[in-house]
Amino acid sequence: MSLEIIILAAGQGTRMRSSIPKVLHQIGGKSMLQHVIETAQKLDPVKIHIVTGYGSDEVREKTTKSVGDLSKNIRWSFQEEQLGTGHAVAQALPGVSNDATCLILYGDSPLVDAETLAGLCRSTASLSLITTKPECTDGLGRIIRDTQDRIRGIVEEKDATAEQKLIPEINTGIMACKADLLDRWLSGLNNHNNQGEYYLTDIVAAAVSDKESVHTETATEPERMMGVNSCAELALAERVYQKIVAQRLMREGLTIRDPARLDVRGDVLFGPDCVVDVNVILEGNINVGKNVVIGPNCVIRDSVIGDHCQVHANSVLDNATLGEACEVGPFARIRPETTLADQVKIGNFVEVKKSSLGVGSKANHLAYVGDSSIGHDVNIGAGVITCNYDGANKSQTVIGDHVFVGSDVQLIAPVEIGDGATIGAGSTITRNVEPGKLALSRPKQKTIDNWRRPLKK
Ligand code: UD1
Ligand code: CA
Repeated sequence: MSLEIIILAAGQGTRMRSSIPKVLHQIGGKSMLQHVIETAQKLDPVKIHIVTGYGSDEVREKTTKSVGDLSKNIRWSFQEEQLGTGHAVAQALPGVSNDATCLILYGDSPLVDAETLAGLCRSTASLSLITTKPECTDGLGRIIRDTQDRIRGIVEEKDATAEQKLIPEINTGIMACKADLLDRWLSGLNNHNNQGEYYLTDIVAAAVSDKESVHTETATEPERMMGVNSCAELALAERVYQKIVAQRLMREGLTIRDPARLDVRGDVLFGPDCVVDVNVILEGNINVGKNVVIGPNCVIRDSVIGDHCQVHANSVLDNATLGEACEVGPFARIRPETTLADQVKIGNFVEVKKSSLGVGSKANHLAYVGDSSIGHDVNIGAGVITCNYDGANKSQTVIGDHVFVGSDVQLIAPVEIGDGATIGAGSTITRNVEPGKLALSRPKQKTIDNWRRPLKK
């Protein structure tokens, strides 16, 4: 069996009241369409046909970029006018080989899992579809069955009688069938309904009248089948998605203090024995070693965190690489292109940008370290600032090993501090300091005798 998948993504999503094409709205930091593509690729299809229409160029460009290698077998089809889901499938069908099994997915239903789809594709019926019984059936197509419980057709809510609206079983939109049969049924569609659209759902009645076998599978997790048509449903889908991700991470051994207060917006990997406290946001690609603790209210994006690290409360890490047993925070900010070697400590109200710190170095309080290369076992005192910007250009600060930078020092870059040097507190360092020397730029302290504070007149 060769499998080809058609994903419908041409609609504007009028009910979203947004100029952004509906399928580009995000769930867990990825567009809904990206989720559907990632799931579809797990079935190893020969081709994925994506039908775009509203905002077509934007959808294609952004999607190709975001899915990377997964775009290799994607073929794009264009639906100029959104005349309905049946019409949309018909735009892709000429590119599908006649003997392929065709799986149809909706770009606005991002939570469906690959196992459920694989099960549907294994069915030998002429037409197979997934139905479900959600708590709320508003706006959905109802499944019509006869007295022997055989499916007869699907009626869209806008065309349904009051009685049909009471039917609890709905169409998820997911169908599989042979391409040649699909072609036959689609060419027989009409738009004589309350929305004036060519409904894909009408092929069920066509299959029944052709006496072809129609198989339905009832999904047991209706929330995974949900389509997103409004901002409220987008928010709902986001919660469902986050629950799915948290459950998976916990199955893999992650301790999550409260799964309802973790948001994953990307791809994360945790080693064993890690703990994530509440209100943590993880974005992009994150790779965490073993025995790592992430404190409450941390935001971490595109970072690598080594074994035994502790990221304390309210810290923000962006594009950072932490070695083993580092401590960051509370209230630390690690900005892009920062590399911390093992056992580095970055304390409260310290900002580090585009810098590297060697093994065992520390900046424990209130410092700005930018465009710096710092050796091992260096102490950066409270209030130290690398003055890396002269208003036009950025310059480097290079600090050797075992350097002690006293509190409230300004290092005016470009500047180099040799190994083992000491910088006295309060100094403004404008010239290089040789290894092992003490540099001070403090004016001598004066004491004025017989001085009196002014008195109020
Ligand atoms: C559709 C189904 C409904 C089902 C529900 C499940 C039809 C007629 N109805 O309704 O039975 O219960 O999904 O979520 O199929 N699209 C196009 N071109 C078009 C129209 C739609 O590409 O001309 C795309 C949309 O971008 C979307 C998908 O098809 O990704 C579904 O369209 P939508 O308008 O959301 O259908 P629903 O009203 O939700
Ligand atoms: Ca929909």
